[in-house]
Amino acid sequence: MTDLSTNYLGLQLKNPIIVGSSGLTDSVEKIKNLEAMGAAAVVLKSLFEEEIIMEMDETIYAMTNRHFVFPETMDYMETVVKEDILANYLELITESKKSVEIPVIASINCVSSQKWTYFAKEIEKAGADALELNLFFLPSDTQRGEKEILEATFDIISKVKGSIRIPVALKISAYQSNLIRFAEHIDQAGVEGIVLFNRSWLPDIDISQLVVSSGFVLSSPSDLGNTLRWVSMIAGRVNCDIAASTGIHDGAGLIKQLLAGANACQVVSALYINDLSFIRKMTEELSKWMVVHEFESIDEFRGRLSQSKSGNPAAWERVQFMKHFRNFV
Ligand SMILES: Cc1cc2nc3c(=O)[nH]c(=O)nc-3n(C[C@H](O)[C@H](O)[C@H](O)COP(=O)(O)O)c2cc1C
Repeated sequence: MTDLSTNYLGLQLKNPIIVGSSGLTDSVEKIKNLEAMGAAAVVLKSLFEEEIIMEMDETIYAMTNRHFVFPETMDYMETVVKEDILANYLELITESKKSVEIPVIASINCVSSQKWTYFAKEIEKAGADALELNLFFLPSDTQRGEKEILEATFDIISKVKGSIRIPVALKISAYQSNLIRFAEHIDQAGVEGIVLFNRSWLPDIDISQLVVSSGFVLSSPSDLGNTLRWVSMIAGRVNCDIAASTGIHDGAGLIKQLLAGANACQVVSALYINDLSFIRKMTEELSKWMVVHEFESIDEFRGRLSQSKSGNPAAWERVQFMKHFRNFV
């Protein structure tokens, strides 16, 4: 009997497939279906920091206009929220938790620790099993250097960790400079997990209309290599867990990420391109592969090919680049 279970953020998952934050996870019905199709956990569609702040500001405006004194706590929020984005999000968490047994991870896309962080507490109260923070520093922002990004990141971690007890994972960008050091820093700051990577909006140019347009939103299997490189290099260097996200399009991709050192894998594009039965197909591939290689549990092979454990660290480094390009004629 192969045991596909894995531990991520202190949560016991029946298999390593988490459905990543996306339109696939924005309703209770969809989440119930994902559980039925074999997903081990879900990350809810993200709320944006700006959405939280905007709704708070509207609330504050409404309250001050009615000659209310702004309260010390934000408990009044629930009674005066206008747009209901926040209330709807909390309801999505509560109702999902009532309807499924798999862990439900909430998600916030943020760039600062400004006044939105109180909402982490609301998310915890609503019953989320963990919180994923999608850090979204634009690589084109010339105002923020590495130092400012680190400061903002620490600030976010410390405010959020200081207010909740559920595990926190940080979803970071592949464009972050000095990724290994950045991962070590955020690990030391106390997060329970790192998600590699979030997906940037990709621009395109419409050459018939001469306008900037949106590029293709979904990843492709060729995106796997970059995630694999960083999962392999960061695993073994941090104490926290790692979730691989980007480019996992089949069971082989899943297996590779586990061999590189991931605790769990987040999948989105493959489920848009195929259908939800693909979750089962991937876990079956993993199971068959484990039988062939005589592994009874994931712990027996996880991280075996990470840079620190592979016995051949150079396989992930510059020498490989030199060999590859010299031999490609
Ligand atoms: C349609 C769509 C919507 C997404 N929405 C979010 C989101 O709200 N928050 C987030 O952190 N990531 C979001 N993502 C990124 C995914 O969670 C994931 O990190 C990314 O797509 C890479 O995984 P994949 O290669 O399996 O698609 C979205 C991706 C897609 C395709």
